[in-house]
Amino acid sequence: MKTYTIAVLPGDGIGPEVIAAAEHVLETVAERYGIRFALERFPIGAAAVAAAGDPLPGQTRAAVTRADAVLLGAVGDPSLDQAPRHLKPETGLLALRALLGVFANLRPVSVHPALAARSPLKPERLRGVNVLIVRELTGGLYYGEPRGREASRAVNTLVYTTVEVERVARLAFAAARRRRGLVTSVDKANVLEVSQLWRDTVTRVGREYSDVRLEHLYVDTAAMRLVAEPAAFDVILTENMFGDILSDEAAVLAGSLGLLPSASLGAGPGVFEPIHGSAPDIAGRGVANPIGAIASVALLLRHGLGLGAAAAAVDRAIGDTLVAGARTRDIAGAGETVLGTWEMGERIAEAVRRAEREVRNEGSSAHSAPPIPHSALE
Ligand code: IPM
Ligand code: MN
Repeated sequence: MKTYTIAVLPGDGIGPEVIAAAEHVLETVAERYGIRFALERFPIGAAAVAAAGDPLPGQTRAAVTRADAVLLGAVGDPSLDQAPRHLKPETGLLALRALLGVFANLRPVSVHPALAARSPLKPERLRGVNVLIVRELTGGLYYGEPRGREASRAVNTLVYTTVEVERVARLAFAAARRRRGLVTSVDKANVLEVSQLWRDTVTRVGREYSDVRLEHLYVDTAAMRLVAEPAAFDVILTENMFGDILSDEAAVLAGSLGLLPSASLGAGPGVFEPIHGSAPDIAGRGVANPIGAIASVALLLRHGLGLGAAAAAVDRAIGDTLVAGARTRDIAGAGETVLGTWEMGERIAEAVRRAEREVRNEGSSAHSAPPIPHSALE
């Protein structure tokens, strides 16, 4: 029996709670598909600062580099807001992304019909929404040097090289080719030199993909169109900071930040994590929505391990569970029964058993090809 080693980094706040539910779903997948997952837990973020004085300790670094994939909860703790940079939980996450070279962050956003009423947008605007945000993840303002803070002055630097733009652009075009064939590249080329390089480079890469349409939008216009006309987007390709902001905005379409997964990909092991943060205000109460983490498990199976049928079963199980009326508190309407984190995970794990059979009966060929060819990651 094949064994996959998954480095599990629960992290802070609601991280450990949503990860426990996600692991339960992974165990069900293992049982149904005759796979073995060696789930090894390591600290990151504030939990790692407390345990080892470092938000990404050496032991965690060693484990993630030799794993087949990394499953992450969330990092962040308000008690460390004033801590020096090297002790901030977020520094551990940025160091993890840099260490694994996961330059492309995929954030798929769709609206489940059962939850359309949870979004503040009008239902007719939400019809047909299916966006893939491809966020550059290891460059830009997050990593630029020099950086620093003085008493009355602070500096961050925005840098991109053509190589960094080319590789993430290729991935976005390759993804669009297998979707609806449209890439919207988002920049601020009317102001920033970096964005001009971005736009020129994306345009040049786009010529290699003559079957994919390319459009450019300024980030302010993109922010507006994302809520005014969200169904008009297919793949949104953008830099690190713009992608961070636009993906939280896009989560509003889906109805809750707690629903959305992400995959961070490079040439080595990928990192799979919900896009939400550690949510300290609700941590420890067992009420967080685990769907973002469980949908991240589906992305891990599909993109991290190439197990498309198992991924399809998990996605289907999430949908079936929502159709059956299961709700955590963030997505519950008036009068609906509210489940806790663990209960929601159990419902979805049970639904995986049924979904596995259905996916198998439909034939696995539909699920065998990953939506992003691995060649786009090298
Ligand atoms: C995200 C988060 C992180 C980011 C933080 C926690 C550093 O907001 O993954 O979107 O900004 O990348
Ligand atoms: Mn974010």
